[in-house]
Amino acid sequence: MKSILFLALACAQGASALAAEPAKFSLLDHPAPNVETLPQDHYGKLVREGRELATRTFAYVGPEVKDPNKRYAGNNLACTSCHQDGAAKPYAMPWVGVSATFPQYRGREDEVSTVEERVNGCMERSMNGKPLPLDSREMKAFVAYIHFLSRGVPVGASLEGAGTKASPPPNRRADPAAGEAIFKAKCAACHGENGQGLRAGQPGDAQGYVFPPLWGPDSFNNGAGMNRMLTAVNFIRHNMPQGTTYANPVLTDEQAYDVTAYILSKPRPVKANLEADFPARWNKPVDAAFPPYVDGASADQHRFGPYPPLMEMAKKRAAERQALGK
Ligand code: HEC
Ligand code: HEC
Repeated sequence: MKSILFLALACAQGASALAAEPAKFSLLDHPAPNVETLPQDHYGKLVREGRELATRTFAYVGPEVKDPNKRYAGNNLACTSCHQDGAAKPYAMPWVGVSATFPQYRGREDEVSTVEERVNGCMERSMNGKPLPLDSREMKAFVAYIHFLSRGVPVGASLEGAGTKASPPPNRRADPAAGEAIFKAKCAACHGENGQGLRAGQPGDAQGYVFPPLWGPDSFNNGAGMNRMLTAVNFIRHNMPQGTTYANPVLTDEQAYDVTAYILSKPRPVKANLEADFPARWNKPVDAAFPPYVDGASADQHRFGPYPPLMEMAKKRAAERQALGK
């Protein structure tokens, strides 16, 4: 009886492995695994290190740490300044399941990227820094933590709750001046009138922020995902002010759109060589606000919208390629 059951299970698994459709998995009703359940063995220790690195990045690889060789990040943010709740919060770019979705094709590189390369993508952009060496203890710790958070998620699954939740952009140019008023009313209490956040300690002490800066020299650079309007709108709409979740957004679509434009209209570090991003060009996102622009629309429209006409053109381009069998 047991062996028949086993056979039936094996067949069912075989069938699903052959199926063309990837498994679907929802992060919304699956609490992320708890690090405290792990033993203090080699794996358990490395996973804990990864979580510590993610939440206190500034204290280990930030620009103010004592050992100059460890200053990989260029700002004093933590990974969890954006990847909230220990990188386990749905629609705040959670790392839950990320081990199951990499290696993955990435338009920014027009290449299949590994999870290590994705970590370094955020090191060089969100953290405005340098890539971690692939064989470093820090890289291993990040990958181990991501691996642990991905327990139980089937390899190749398509995930609900991953990335950010789309919020439809209003069909108009965003209004940074209207955004400034929203910023003062709903954001400045924590992030400061000048957007520079609130330090945990003193500049130079590598203790990071209670409330992170949103622009200026210690923020993410202009090549970061958070510097793209639609990505940032989706994040802010479903995660800010702090305490907001996708299920109870505080800002309206219109408010999120304008306040994001205000933040992204401010100066921030500049990443060299951005024009090399999205080398295939046809799949360059409409809100990647740096040249070259492939669709003839203005730089300003890519930066502040209106986006629906650009999205229409992008859809057409993709359909034309498909028709050509590319
Ligand atoms: C109650 C305090 C609070 C308020 C109000 C608040 N934030 Fe935040 N914000 C935070 C904290 C804390 C983080 C870091 C992530 C975390 O710990 O949740 C953060 C992170 C962020 C980030 C990503 C990290 C970074 O440095 O870029 C953005 C963007 C952001 N907030 C935008 C906003 C906007 C826009 C508003 C107003 C609509 C807002 N926040 C209101 C506390 C706040
Ligand atoms: C300023 C905000 C911000 C900070 C800080 C940040 N990230 Fe990210 N990260 C993002 C955004 C936005 C995305 C998704 C959008 C994109 O692909 O650009 C992302 C995506 C990722 C992904 C892929 C997630 C997926 O669903 O495929 C990984 C892994 C990652 N980041 C790791 C890190 C690590 C490690 C750190 C710290 C060393 C870090 N990030 C710091 C904003 C940030």
